[in-house]
Amino acid sequence: MLGSSSLPPASTAEATSRACSTPTGRAESGYDALDAYARSKLANVAFTIELAERLRATERTRGVVANCVHPGFIPSTGLYRDVSRRARLVTRIASLVPGVGTSIEEGARRLVEVTTDPAYADRTGQYVGGDGPEEPSEQARDPAVRERLWRVSADLVGVDPDWP
Ligand SMILES: NC(=O)c1ccc[n+]([C@@H]2O[C@H](COP(=O)([O-])OP(=O)(O)OC[C@H]3O[C@@H](n4cnc5c(N)ncnc54)[C@H](OP(=O)(O)O)[C@@H]3O)[C@@H](O)[C@H]2O)c1
Repeated sequence: MLGSSSLPPASTAEATSRACSTPTGRAESGYDALDAYARSKLANVAFTIELAERLRATERTRGVVANCVHPGFIPSTGLYRDVSRRARLVTRIASLVPGVGTSIEEGARRLVEVTTDPAYADRTGQYVGGDGPEEPSEQARDPAVRERLWRVSADLVGVDPDWP
């Protein structure tokens, strides 16, 4: 993710996420694919902001930026193949509403823009949607959530949590 972007969240999906008491995405009880997805996207944004702050704090990583992109709601990918039939139906109906869905090409264009446009060369910690940078959710900006997510992530992959 260094110097480029992760592919974050549908703000709508993020908005449906329940309180982020488990930023790793582990459900407390039961499992709901869309809920897990929303949590994973919230984690993408929170992690990006935390990474950007950590990179900014040290000279060693000068010039390295971390941003994330919301490509839009793209119903034509395989993303929804494992959700319930009901959720698939809702997704299918939503995709038929003019102006709601985004094409794969448009989603890719947003990602390419953020990774190659010089305008983003010195912008970091940004959550970029279709109309440029947007304000991430309160949960994604919460320093306590970000710090916990960072430490849990570092622990899971066995790296020093104090990097960089
Ligand atoms: N579609 C949307 O509306 C939407 C909106 C916002 C964000 N996004 C994000 O965009 C990203 C791509 O989603 P998509 O819609 O393109 O979904 P997708 O059609 O399901 O594509 C996911 C791709 O990732 C690959 N993949 C999954 N797990 C992998 C692993 N462990 N190692 C290597 N490759 C793996 C899959 O490979 P296989 O096909 O071989 O399994 C597939 O090519 C996701 O992060 C998603 O959350 C999508």
